[in-house]
Amino acid sequence: MLPELTIAIAKGRMQDDAFRLLRRAGVVVSEEALRSRRLAIEDESGRYRFVFVKPADVPVYVEHGIADCGIVGRDVLLESEADLLQPLDLKIGFCRIALAAGEGKLTNSFGALRVATKYPRVTAMHFGARGVPVEIIELSGSVELAAVLGLSDCIVDVVETGRTLAENGLKVIEEIAASTGRLVVNRASYQLKATAVAGLVNALNVAVNKETAA
Ligand code: PRP
Repeated sequence: MLPELTIAIAKGRMQDDAFRLLRRAGVVVSEEALRSRRLAIEDESGRYRFVFVKPADVPVYVEHGIADCGIVGRDVLLESEADLLQPLDLKIGFCRIALAAGEGKLTNSFGALRVATKYPRVTAMHFGARGVPVEIIELSGSVELAAVLGLSDCIVDVVETGRTLAENGLKVIEEIAASTGRLVVNRASYQLKATAVAGLVNALNVAVNKETAA
C-alpha cells in the first residue's frame, strides 16, 4: 500500500523526541530504520512515509506539498515565510531564541550593533520593532564564535541548556522568543487528505496530553 501521508522531520535536536511522541501516538518506526542513513523511511503500518531534512527545509517541503506534514521548531517557523497550517504544539524540543553577548560587550559598540545570527528575519524584526539600528551578519552555525572572536558585538541564537553560551563566556541579555516543536500541514493536504491528516493530528494530540500529564 502507498503511504497516506509524507511527513518531513527536522533532522537533529528534535528528531528522537518526535519519534518517541509518534510511537505514543501509535506510529511505530523500527529501530533498524531509525538507525539507518536512509533519508526516507516508512512506519511499520506503511501508512506514513518520513523524510529527513534540515530544519530550515521542513517548511519548504511542506509548503510545496512534497510533504503533507512536518515536525519542526517554532524558531524555524518564525524565520520562514512559508504559508503553512500549524494545528499542534507538540511540546517537545523546548528552547528559546535569545540575544546573548560577552560581559560588557553590548556597551562598547560604535554605530550600528553588529549581530551575528542564523535567524536574520527574527533579528531584524526584534531590533526593528525597537528602532535599534543593527548590522546583521548571517552565519549558518557555531554562531557563538562570532561574539567570542569579535566578528560581532552580540548574537541572536537558539539556547537550549545554555551550556554552549556558558562554555564560551557569553550570557543571555534578552529572551526574544520561546520555541517548541510544531506539527505543520500543507494547506491543500489539509483539505484533500482531511481524514488522514485529522487522524494524525488527533493521535498526536492525545499523545502530547499523555506526555504532559505524565
Ligand atoms: C544550537 C545553537 C547553539 C546550541 C545551543 O546549535 O546554535 O549553538 O545549539 O544549545 P545549548 O544551549 O544546549 O548549549 P546546533 O547544535 O543546532 O548547531 P550549530 O551551531 O551548527 O547551528
